[in-house]
Amino acid sequence: MTNAPVICVDGPAGVGKGTLCRALASHFGYALLDSGSLYRLTALKALRSNAVDGSAEQLGALAAQLDVQFKVDAGGTRIVLDGEDVTTAIREEAVGDAASKVSAVPAVREALLQRQRDFAQPPGLVADGRDMGTVVFPQAPAKLFLTADAAERARRRTLQLLEAGENAIFDRIHSDILARDARDASRKVAPLKPADDAVVIDTTSLSIDEVVAQAIAICGENVAKHLIAK
Ligand code: C5P
Repeated sequence: MTNAPVICVDGPAGVGKGTLCRALASHFGYALLDSGSLYRLTALKALRSNAVDGSAEQLGALAAQLDVQFKVDAGGTRIVLDGEDVTTAIREEAVGDAASKVSAVPAVREALLQRQRDFAQPPGLVADGRDMGTVVFPQAPAKLFLTADAAERARRRTLQLLEAGENAIFDRIHSDILARDARDASRKVAPLKPADDAVVIDTTSLSIDEVVAQAIAICGENVAKHLIAK
């Protein structure tokens, strides 16, 4: 692992990690790792080959063999799997749901571990996920853990989908979020929980600007200490 500073942002589905991570990456000039996309890519491959409920060996092999490229351009990051642009396809709720299932398989997590660590390159990385601070980058100098009431997360997700012109039913989104939280928090490997040295930010009644300001202050100080100590 390089000594490049890593900012870990962990937390449950729909808590605003993606928006915060993009703001942090732009503020610090760091690259961004959306670790959930790797689980979503594995899930998409599994769905397409009817293997979501397959053996650990089969799912681990799918994860290990992901042929993926992250293409960063002015419009954002495009995700290309086996030569196909799947940026939109992996965001579907069915893929998220399958991702939460395949991510509970230890062989899948093991297969994706080094791939995630390889993103930590100078000048630094903002890593978005569930186990960035606990498992993938335990030595990271800055760790945040975002929380928010499930109902508030469901409300934000519903608005986001409606704004994108998609169908969204609050009650269904709310129950999906609760089910995914329960699965992510109760799995045996890398369960969703804050690292001992993470700063927990409850975003329920904060605006995104307030969350970004708090996060920049915390991370700026921690990263500065890390760079001085190097
Ligand atoms: O963050 P996102 O919703 O894209 O993640 C999809 C699923 O992938 C999550 O519900 C979770 O089960 C899994 N995941 C994980 N560890 C990560 C990131 C995501 O288990 N670091």
